[in-house]
Amino acid sequence: MTELTTYKTTTPAEVSKWIATLPADEFPENGGLNVKVEDLQIAIFNFTRRNEWFATQNLCPHKQQMILSRGMIGSDGDEPKVACPFHKKTFSLKTGENLNGDECPIATYPVKVEGGTVYVGIA
Ligand code: FES
Repeated sequence: MTELTTYKTTTPAEVSKWIATLPADEFPENGGLNVKVEDLQIAIFNFTRRNEWFATQNLCPHKQQMILSRGMIGSDGDEPKVACPFHKKTFSLKTGENLNGDECPIATYPVKVEGGTVYVGIA
């Protein structure tokens, strides 16, 4: 469980630095990429259908797989979500809450796009 505890949700108010990742056009539409941000593996999602970006830990808490960036994204009503490709545990991209079970929530991070580059905010 130690790896899981390295990921902590960062709210916009808690951001102490913005880390530049990749050019926005390298991210697949309606899909994600795993990006190393300092010592964290962060899944960044380019949710073009909603015209929004999201970032979460890449680590699925179910079987501790680094995989969420390859999950299917969609919406549950207004709630953006990602489904882990392994066993379909589904997490809110906004709050990190597990929407179809009792896994622990995943950490979420603020994202911004400036000058064509995608940034992740960390505390
Ligand atoms: S490893 Fe993600 S749902 Fe099982």
